[in-house]
Amino acid sequence: MTKPHTKASVIGRYLPAQLQPSTPASAFAPSNIALCKYWGKRTTELNLPINGSLSISLGQLGTNTTLKLAENGADTLSLNGKNLLADNPFYQKVFAFIDLFRRSQNLPICAETQNTIPTAAGLASSASGFAALTLAINDFFNLNLPLPVLSAFARMGSGSASRSVYTGFVEWHKGTQADGMDSHATALNTTWQDFRIGIVQVSSAEKKINSREGMNRTVNTSVLYQQWQTQAERDLSTIRHAIINQDFTHLGEAAEHNALSMHATMISAYPPVLYWQPETIAVMHTVWQLRDKGIAVYLTMDAGPNVKLLFLQQDEATIQSAFDNCTIIAPFGK
Ligand code: PMV
Repeated sequence: MTKPHTKASVIGRYLPAQLQPSTPASAFAPSNIALCKYWGKRTTELNLPINGSLSISLGQLGTNTTLKLAENGADTLSLNGKNLLADNPFYQKVFAFIDLFRRSQNLPICAETQNTIPTAAGLASSASGFAALTLAINDFFNLNLPLPVLSAFARMGSGSASRSVYTGFVEWHKGTQADGMDSHATALNTTWQDFRIGIVQVSSAEKKINSREGMNRTVNTSVLYQQWQTQAERDLSTIRHAIINQDFTHLGEAAEHNALSMHATMISAYPPVLYWQPETIAVMHTVWQLRDKGIAVYLTMDAGPNVKLLFLQQDEATIQSAFDNCTIIAPFGK
């Protein structure tokens, strides 16, 4: 029997026998919001998805990471200027990922990571974090690997990180290979100057179910999961075409339907995976009231209570005044 692929075995095939670290290496990766969602893994070790997904990267909002050789011989990590201790879960995740590359080589590293996402936006930083780390590792160790390979590596840190190695609209292809190397993202190479994202932060009192646990539970217990896979395939194609044709109505409708269907599927898991708070539902109603008044605004939501709005520049002032707590992002610059 052939051995199952592991992160280390897949990545190891792309590494030289001895790594040659260079001068400090820095990389930036943007955060991203999925318009067609990834929810469910076919292989947990490699974060291989059951369905393909498509996102918009958030321009300058993301993560900057710098790697250099540690002078005092011990690994160190700072996050937004604060040093983290070795028992911090984020520290452990970062160095577990770096270890996939340095293997048994003695290369103590000083890693500095800075998020440019406003804390008020309440966005998760694992996608931009693992993408920036992967890009910085590529430079630091002079690996010179192409973006699709780096996207597949970033995916092993966090699924949605596969999309954050690119800017603009990005599709993550689910792939079929057992080693997952065809499960990487590519950019759509199209810009949409007027496209806007609004992030409405609502209070979150409850502890979040992390995406890994939420996905596993949904795949294993939701009777709607089969249906979700069929719909996600269809939405992916609708959303891709709507972006290429700059058809905002079709894009907004399909993205909102996709997000709500993903949440319906999660809620039908047992125990239920429900990320919404009462305020989340209030924001949803406000979005639908605005639509009834002729404003083209659509919503999407991820593994948390915040609501993300999709709209065009012409409606920016209306959106800003309708929602108290809305951070507006122009993914292609103003
Ligand atoms: O990459 P993860 O494990 O954080 O999962 C991301 C899941 C969603 O944000 C809900 C959907 C997506 O495609 O980004």
